[in-house]
Amino acid sequence: MTAAELRDLAIDIAHEAGELAQRRRAEGVSIAASKSTLADIVTEADREVEALIRARLNAERPGDGFLGEETGGGEGSTGITWVVDPIDGTVNYASGIPLYAVSIAVVEGGSDPDRWTALAGVVRSPVLGETFSAARDEGAHLNGARLRIAEPGPAGALLATGFGYDPRTHAGDLAMVGRVMPIARDLRRGGSAATDLAYVAAGRLDGYFERGLSPWDFAAGSLLVQEAGGVFLRPETAGVVRRLSLAGSADLVGELRKRALAEG
Ligand code: IPD
Repeated sequence: MTAAELRDLAIDIAHEAGELAQRRRAEGVSIAASKSTLADIVTEADREVEALIRARLNAERPGDGFLGEETGGGEGSTGITWVVDPIDGTVNYASGIPLYAVSIAVVEGGSDPDRWTALAGVVRSPVLGETFSAARDEGAHLNGARLRIAEPGPAGALLATGFGYDPRTHAGDLAMVGRVMPIARDLRRGGSAATDLAYVAAGRLDGYFERGLSPWDFAAGSLLVQEAGGVFLRPETAGVVRRLSLAGSADLVGELRKRALAEG
C-alpha cells in the first residue's frame, strides 16, 4: 500500500471510531480507571474505541504492528506500525466538552518516535465533523482542502499548550508558560494535543509547546504539521524525562525552544 492508501484506510477507520465514541458519549460516560495519577483517567469508551480500531486493522493489515494508548504495543512482521490514541482529550470527553479526537498514525521503522518515519496520519474530530489527514510527501488536508501553517502576525503568536496529569509538574510547566508569554498574542489550553497539532497545521494556531507527551498524542499531528510546511521538534535535553514537543514555523519553533528551555 502507498502512503496515500494507508492514509485513506486510516480515515475510514477514524470515522468509524469517532462515530462509536460519539454514540457512547451520548449514552453517558463511565470512568473505567485512573492510570498514572488520579487525574489521568480512561473511560470504557477509550477501551472500546481502541478495540474497534485494533480489530479493523487486524482484519485489513494482519501483519502490521500496533501501539495504542490503552492496550500498548505489539511488534508486526511488515515493518509498519499503527500508533493510536482512541480518544485524545479524554478529560474533555468525560466532561462533555466536544474537543476530543481520534488520532491514528502509520509509521515505519518501529515504535520509537526518534527512529520511526511517519507515513500517514489522521486526526478526526467527530463532534465538529473535521478530518485532518496527511500522507508523507502528499500534503496535509482538512476535509479535502490543502492545509498550510501560519506565521505569527505583529500582535504575536497564537499559541497552545497542555499540562500533564501529575500535579507535581504543574509549577514547572507554568514557569515555562511564563517564559513563552512575551512572544504570545494569547494562549489556548484546549485539552487535546492531537487537535492542537492539527490546528497548527491548519494555521488556526501559530504554534504549540508541551512537555511530556506520549507517542500516540503526537504521532499523527506531527506529520500534519510537517506536511503543512511546519516543523515538529522534540529536543533532547540531558536528564529530562518529560521531553518538550514544539510545533509551528521554523522561526517560531526556534524561538519557542530557546524560551521554553531557558533556565527558569
Ligand atoms: C492528553 C491530551 C492533553 C495533553 C496531555 C495528553 P489523553 O491525552 O492530549 O491535551 O495535555 O498531555 O496526555 O490522555 O486525553 O489521550
